[in-house]
Amino acid sequence: MIPVGFILHLLLLASSFIAVIKGASVGKENELDLQSIYERYGRNPEDTWLSVLDESYSQGRYARWQQLSTNCGSTGVDVEQLLSDWFDDGMAVLMSEDGTTDPVEVAVAPPLVNEAQEKLRESNCTASVVAEDLEKLFFSTLSPVRVANPITETFLELQEIEKFIHDLVAKYPGQAQIKQIGETENGTAIHMVIIKPKPSRTVPLNGTVTPPVVFVDSGTHAREWLSVSTSLYAIQQLLEQPSSPARQVEWRIVPVVNPDGYAYSWNTNRLWRKNRKSGSGRCQGVDLNRNFDINFAGVGASSRPCSYQYCGPSAFSEPETRAVRDAILEVGSRLKGYMALHSYSQVILLPWAYKPDEHPNLSNMTAMGEGMVKEISKARGTVFGVYDTYKNFYPGSGISMDWASSIGIPYTMTLELHDKGEHGFLYPASKINDAVTEVWKGIEYFGQEIARQSREGYFLRK
Ligand SMILES: *[C@@H]1O[C@H](CO)[C@@H](O)[C@H](O)[C@H]1NC(C)=O
Ligand SMILES: *[C@@H]1O[C@H](CO)[C@@H](O)[C@H](O)[C@H]1NC(C)=O
Ligand SMILES: *[C@@H]1O[C@H](CO)[C@@H](O)[C@H](O)[C@H]1NC(C)=O
Ligand SMILES: *[C@@H]1O[C@H](CO)[C@@H](O)[C@H](O)[C@H]1NC(C)=O
Ligand SMILES: *[C@@H]1O[C@H](CO)[C@@H](O)[C@H](O)[C@H]1NC(C)=O
Ligand SMILES: [Zn+2]
Repeated sequence: MIPVGFILHLLLLASSFIAVIKGASVGKENELDLQSIYERYGRNPEDTWLSVLDESYSQGRYARWQQLSTNCGSTGVDVEQLLSDWFDDGMAVLMSEDGTTDPVEVAVAPPLVNEAQEKLRESNCTASVVAEDLEKLFFSTLSPVRVANPITETFLELQEIEKFIHDLVAKYPGQAQIKQIGETENGTAIHMVIIKPKPSRTVPLNGTVTPPVVFVDSGTHAREWLSVSTSLYAIQQLLEQPSSPARQVEWRIVPVVNPDGYAYSWNTNRLWRKNRKSGSGRCQGVDLNRNFDINFAGVGASSRPCSYQYCGPSAFSEPETRAVRDAILEVGSRLKGYMALHSYSQVILLPWAYKPDEHPNLSNMTAMGEGMVKEISKARGTVFGVYDTYKNFYPGSGISMDWASSIGIPYTMTLELHDKGEHGFLYPASKINDAVTEVWKGIEYFGQEIARQSREGYFLRK
């Protein structure tokens, strides 16, 4: 039995939410108009999905929200555009890494599901319900126990990540160090792990500065937890397996580029993507992977603050992207490889994303990508694709990979990790081990190739 006091408590909570919402909805432009949503869809104070405005109310936020898998084929329909009112109202959330590659997954609040399906079908898109209650799905993907190697069996919260990297690095003095490369608007530190090559293995760089460096970042999009697990596993392998051929180069790895967003995806909104930059209106956050200084605010980016692809007011307006920029520039000409880890789709994306022109080094980068794909597939046959991003995947502007290439880093890529949409961002903890161990083989190959090509003088040629 549920005690009466508890119900009373809930009612009190509910009424205080309504008071907060009412108070907040007066006057400001771009504000969620809950009153009109109540009027449009009918109001039930116990419907927790109405608590979208209340930041402290995490559990129940997505109770009974449904996940629709939509496919618009060749209709050219942009699902975000089609459902834009609801996206802006916070009543629908895009659950795909990009909104143009079929199928596009969307999360929709309970009263809108039928209408959303109808709207999509009218535009000749198909739409089917693939999850009936997202909140339940979130919890089913988490691992209940903390185990021997936590990073391959559970997702870690921000504080756990910090502890993990500090403890690990402390075990390898002289080989690894942690450097703060910036802090968020909220004052949260952004950390980079530097792992030196094994001295005996350092590549004689054939006339250029030594040693070569590979830069990796992850956790740029908050909800892409698997990208963080993958970085942490790479750090662990590099230090615990010093005979790895990847230890011939120096690694600089930023496991969580967007710590405020990452924490928010744990404590408030599992599907949060952007940073937590405060906005003037209702909508917060900037898509950090649209904020780099390359074709800023162009194709595949949005200037609407409510959009999941909002590029921000100007290039490098965000402390997180400035931190990554400065950490990259600081390395100088030793930097030979840049890899951005994201999820999901199981593809290796190559520049350019912002224009259809063929990159002058596309054939070399494709060869690198295919070598990685081969290594990744060895464990259990998992197939990653290799794509020229603009032409074969999706156009995007202000993307870190393109910016990194534009400043002359020879090999730059974006890895969209597991899976192909079966679980998407809600990748189950029980499968982290399979994913990170096989992708590590691809990352290791990347480092080994950079070392080989440095040694053979490839980077000296014009
Ligand atoms: C959907 O398809 C039908 C039949 O092919 C066509 O008549 C209609 O114009 C299409 N609707 C949209 C919005 O594209
Ligand atoms: C800012 O950081 C504090 C803890 O350091 C955290 O409790 C709070 O939620 C953070 N706020 C944002 C907007 O990330
Ligand atoms: C880079 O591409 C050029 C031209 O296709 C080729 O000759 C060269 O061998 C490639 N280098 C590497 C290291 O793949
Ligand atoms: C250095 O690179 C050149 C090609 O630029 C190559 O011929 C030479 O063998 C390399 N030296 C070493 C020590 O690998
Ligand atoms: C292509 O690769 C070569 C060899 O590393 C490098 O010197 C050159 O800068 C690269 N070009 C571009 C456009 O990245
Ligand atoms: Zn991403």
